[in-house]
Amino acid sequence: MAGMSTTRVPLIAGNWKMNLDHLQSIAFVQKLAWSLKDAKHGFASVEVAVFPPFTDLRSVQTLISADKLELKFGGQDLSAYDSGAYTGEISGAFLKALDCDYVIIGHSERRTLHHETDEEIGAKVTAAIKHGLVPVLCVGETADDLETHGPSAVPVAQLKAALATAAKGVDIVVAYEPVWAIGSGKAATPAQAEQVAAALRVALVDLIGQEAADATRILYGGSVKASNIAGFMREPNVDGALVGGASLDLSEFSSIAQFQKHVGT
Ligand code: PGA
Repeated sequence: MAGMSTTRVPLIAGNWKMNLDHLQSIAFVQKLAWSLKDAKHGFASVEVAVFPPFTDLRSVQTLISADKLELKFGGQDLSAYDSGAYTGEISGAFLKALDCDYVIIGHSERRTLHHETDEEIGAKVTAAIKHGLVPVLCVGETADDLETHGPSAVPVAQLKAALATAAKGVDIVVAYEPVWAIGSGKAATPAQAEQVAAALRVALVDLIGQEAADATRILYGGSVKASNIAGFMREPNVDGALVGGASLDLSEFSSIAQFQKHVGT
């Protein structure tokens, strides 16, 4: 049954975009780990992941493994191909070799600025799964889409296109990110996020089966901050957040990860 949020471990994910070089990434991850440790963060009850630029991943991996940190990490994109003459591309095999758990796929900035199509995004999802990475598949409507098609039509269509060939039972994360809310300071309301997340979960049942649909974390993304995370997390179909700008602010991100402390407020 949809909405069984108790069975899903929330995921707070920081999408750094093109920010922080490898030295800055080490300092940031170290401080984040200290901050969460000070707060006695329970990683088993709220997973925390960072998505640094590719050039940072080796440094982040080394720090996390040396200090046995419970933080997870992943890439911001991957190639649909395994290897070969694809200058500038990064294989899922390389990400897996660096211990990445996750990879963001189909972020709106890649759909818009790099003209990624639903077909390419679907091929990337297939490649991620093939290499043992959990795709964090981003879907979301523009302000125009919202006016023309209503709230969930475009995100649901993007989900169906990306998972058209996905096997039943696959392990994925879906991030609902309304394009109009990304970096705008104008987050969706919790009710808006819940409406689309619920529609996405219904679509997931057909695509990957009931059990996997119930287990899939659906994140909300778009201007998430420490001051608004609690409202989203109270919604039954919202299982975490994909955080951009606020993920680069240590105290904000740490506080978002500890939403359980302010979810009742
Ligand atoms: P934002 O970005 O939190 O800065 O709005 C979210 C995202 O693009 O993933």
